[in-house]
Amino acid sequence: LNNGLALTPQMGWNSWNFFACAINETVIKETADALISTGLADLGYIFVNIDDCWSTVSRNGKGALVPDPKDFPSGIKALADYIHEKGLKLGIYSDAGMFTCQVRPGSLYHENGDAQLFASWGVDYLKYDNCYNLGIEPKKRYPPMREALNATGRTIFYSLCEWGEDDPALWAGRVGNSWRTTQDINDSWASMTTIADLNDKWAAYAGPGGWNDPDMLEVGNGGMTFEEYRAHFSIWSLMKAPLLIGCDVRNMTAETLEILSNKEVIAVNQDPLGIQGRKVSAEGSDYCSQVWAGPLSGNRMVVALWNRCSEPVTIKAKWETIGLHSSASVLMRDLWKHEDLGNIDGFFEAIIASHDCGMYILTPLALSNAAI
Ligand code: GLA
Repeated sequence: LNNGLALTPQMGWNSWNFFACAINETVIKETADALISTGLADLGYIFVNIDDCWSTVSRNGKGALVPDPKDFPSGIKALADYIHEKGLKLGIYSDAGMFTCQVRPGSLYHENGDAQLFASWGVDYLKYDNCYNLGIEPKKRYPPMREALNATGRTIFYSLCEWGEDDPALWAGRVGNSWRTTQDINDSWASMTTIADLNDKWAAYAGPGGWNDPDMLEVGNGGMTFEEYRAHFSIWSLMKAPLLIGCDVRNMTAETLEILSNKEVIAVNQDPLGIQGRKVSAEGSDYCSQVWAGPLSGNRMVVALWNRCSEPVTIKAKWETIGLHSSASVLMRDLWKHEDLGNIDGFFEAIIASHDCGMYILTPLALSNAAI
């Protein structure tokens, strides 16, 4: 969507994956504090997004949405002020249907009033869900909220969440700043790998202004190993997915923080070229030995060696496979070891532990010089 936002994928935090409906203004404020104190905000995680369950079960007498007075007694405006004072941005959630997925009032046919209310509160981001949609197609239900947000005069990030139902990559570039391509993620290896593959299909449609959204991060929620979370974060970064943290950032382990705060991996996600990397090869039993790659600015490439097998394997990335000339000589950097690996020609291979993912940036030397 051409609203000046999402030139790179959005980064921040969202309440749903860890808290579900157990949210309140204290949790949200403490999360904002933690994003600052951990250094995550400085790395780009600036959106603090409230998901479902912030509102009462019915609208007030004037037809307006009302923050639940038990959990949000100070209201959303006060929360937005608190978050803005810290240099962060506030996101909220509604639904392109009669109700949200947790049966709070939805915004279908209330688009203008709700958008005005969100803008008056100082909201910076709207996640717009797909429950109770009366069977009306997403293509009809999502544009009215784009118009309503635009009419407020406030710049509001518009995140579509229709779960890939109507192949949104094909049409949502004109409607929103990101669009979910799949059903909900859960905190498991099976879910994460399935979703990565589904999102890969739509790589060609992502770019500055609008991104494929394979759902929020589960890093730190406990259902996967360190290696699996590292792979999750590597591949989401390479796929130019939104990096929305989904754990309790007030209580992270050192390992979780290490993954989420890897500057070099974040820089891949936020690369200004904005091209979604893809799976370029898959070999072995169940195609578990995989190479994912994509172009970066400055003639560079990112390559991930992802071992989805149940034992360690040597994974080889040949230059032709990743889109480099076979005679290219590259300078290679390991983004997880934070180390330069020197000049490499023709191919690169490494032993990768089960379910882990190596990630590298390749900077061509000989060929780029010749090209200049
Ligand atoms: C849907 C969305 C989730 C979350 C829940 C909240 O399932 O896809 O991301 O917002 O609703 O109820």
